Amino acid sequence: EQINKGKYEHYMQKEIHEQPESLTTTMRGRLIRGGSCKAKSVLLGGLKDHLKTIRRSRRIVFIGCGTSYNAALAARPILEELSGIPVTMEVASDLLDRQGPIYREDTAVFVSQSGETADTLQALEYALENGALCVGITNTVGSAIARNTHCGVHINAGCEIGVASTKAYTSQIVVMAMLALAIGDDTISSQARREAIIDGLFDLPGKVKEVLKLDQEMKDLAKLLIAEQSLLVFGRGYNYATALEGALKVKEVALMHSEGILAGEMKHGPLALVDETLPIVVIATRDACFSKQQSVIQQLHARKGRLIVMCTEGDAASVCVGGSSRVIEVPRVEDCLQPVINIVPLQLLAYHLTVLRGYNVDQPRNLAKSVTTQ
Ligand code: G6P
Repeated sequence: EQINKGKYEHYMQKEIHEQPESLTTTMRGRLIRGGSCKAKSVLLGGLKDHLKTIRRSRRIVFIGCGTSYNAALAARPILEELSGIPVTMEVASDLLDRQGPIYREDTAVFVSQSGETADTLQALEYALENGALCVGITNTVGSAIARNTHCGVHINAGCEIGVASTKAYTSQIVVMAMLALAIGDDTISSQARREAIIDGLFDLPGKVKEVLKLDQEMKDLAKLLIAEQSLLVFGRGYNYATALEGALKVKEVALMHSEGILAGEMKHGPLALVDETLPIVVIATRDACFSKQQSVIQQLHARKGRLIVMCTEGDAASVCVGGSSRVIEVPRVEDCLQPVINIVPLQLLAYHLTVLRGYNVDQPRNLAKSVTTQ
């Protein structure tokens, strides 16, 4: 039943639209609502015997490729905040190329939808040889990464067929947010923050359902962008990963050049590209970086940038300089969960761009769902 397209024309489309359900399945049985004497908390069965060791690690290293790497990047800030442990990021192939240092005191977290990606698997062997505690986050029970790690969490997003990963991405972020909650579970000072995030997780599927209503709006935007050569996506903080992942979707399926840009680096190069023709998506939803993004919008506008601003519902007036930008308004959720919401319009945009440009949505040229050779 999972592997037919149902009422949808393409698997990617179906997988984008089933995210309210896939996220519900990812969280099922893992969130504890709390009660009169019990605090709200998270239960990750596959990790419970290893949490103490993880809390004692000197460093947490996320390792993955493609969309899985981006999901880890989206979760990094909340993991740093709730665990207090330094979190570093490794693209699996680059870790191997450098033979980068991995220590016994490290927790290495391997993120992979398929659980079979050759580079990630080889990085796992390397981390095991170096004595790190290895944690797997995969969507595939019995996969090589699930089997060979010391412990782990399945994302339970259901089978993903489209080569471009969509529902696995959002489920991976949610699992890593739950990982952060579980690691930080013994810290009294962050209890209120953790409870707010848990409430946010309960509400998340409903909010994803709301943001999916932007489908037609994203189709209209795709019509405007159909003949473009390039699309830039600016993000920062929690949503730097959203910029990278949004650009990756556009690149891999719509076969349009697209680049995710860390907005804080704008003045160190990207600004030179800005003119009145190049379309630029700026992610400026409410969080601690909002005022910095407002200033980025002003600076891009001053250089006549062709802006498409993603903002929190009701914020259009605060992000539109001179009224010239196009705005995508999305529902607000807890800041660290906002990447789950913000990626959805960009998934829809990439999907519609692909269909309108006449390319194969589910099997983009030259790409494979699972890259099992190096
Ligand atoms: C391929 C797929 C991507 C995926 C990446 C990593 O490039 O096309 O969608 O993100 O591999 O795959 P993994 O299964 O390890 O998450």
